[in-house]
Amino acid sequence: MNVGSDAQRIALVTGATRGIGTEIVRGLAKAGLVVHMTGRDGELASSVAATLIQETGATVLGDALELTDAKGAQALVREIQDRHGRLDVLVNNAAAELDEEHGALEADLDDLRTMFEINVIAAWRLIQLVVPAMVANGYGRIVNVTTGLCQFERMADSRREDHYPGHGGYRVTKASLNALTALMGGELREAGVLVNASDPGYCRTDMGAPFAPLSAAEGADVSIYLATLDQDGPTAGWFFQRQSKMW
Ligand SMILES: NC(=O)c1ccc[n+]([C@@H]2O[C@H](COP(=O)([O-])OP(=O)(O)OC[C@H]3O[C@@H](n4cnc5c(N)ncnc54)[C@H](OP(=O)(O)O)[C@@H]3O)[C@@H](O)[C@H]2O)c1
Repeated sequence: MNVGSDAQRIALVTGATRGIGTEIVRGLAKAGLVVHMTGRDGELASSVAATLIQETGATVLGDALELTDAKGAQALVREIQDRHGRLDVLVNNAAAELDEEHGALEADLDDLRTMFEINVIAAWRLIQLVVPAMVANGYGRIVNVTTGLCQFERMADSRREDHYPGHGGYRVTKASLNALTALMGGELREAGVLVNASDPGYCRTDMGAPFAPLSAAEGADVSIYLATLDQDGPTAGWFFQRQSKMW
């Protein structure tokens, strides 16, 4: 089955109850997509969705999803596919950052394991769940939200002004998500499924900081761009402010 280019697209955005995720949903809703947005608290997700419906007039649905719950993820993807007959866009936005103060040497390995579960394995699982139908439809957009902090040259040179101390385990999980993006993008290159990573930049969110230079909406823009790429758009790349960047 090929579901055609003029069909209304259905998107799933994780971690959308606040911050950059909410702005990604707002942007996709404004672009005319039907958007399912998740947070651990389903009531909060529904209430944010209701606000976005009022504002955009689009269809936005709030769903509860604890990302470490494999069965919950499976059930949610099945429910979305049953309801709409398709799922075209996945934005793996949710993440945990548990080690702002620790470099790689001091990383707490239990926190590291938790971050790998949420930042890498949960995203990987969702990709595995959504891709078969995307391949069957000949259309898919997958966006993995990572961070400039995990760029290899930046991590490798502590003399650089933008190296920043800390975030040891978080950076390694996000570098792993970048590696997954490259690999999945490569595997799906001929299938019409474009897989890219986005770097929002330093944003004014709970995870970022009130004094960060970018708003959550500015940080969301690159993910909205990658989630709505034309069929001849890039794949297996990493983007900041809509420009390709080195891993
Ligand atoms: N802010 C920045 O400066 C910055 C910079 C670079 C990259 N990023 C990346 O951008 C993305 C969004 O960041 P943000 O600043 O908007 O973060 P945020 O405000 O802290 O929001 C994080 C979101 O992730 C969800 N989440 C966390 N753990 C979860 C879990 N176990 N199960 C389900 N959902 C979970 C949260 O949902 P709950 O409501 O359930 O907690 C929340 O919706 C992340 O991938 C982050 O790494 C952010």
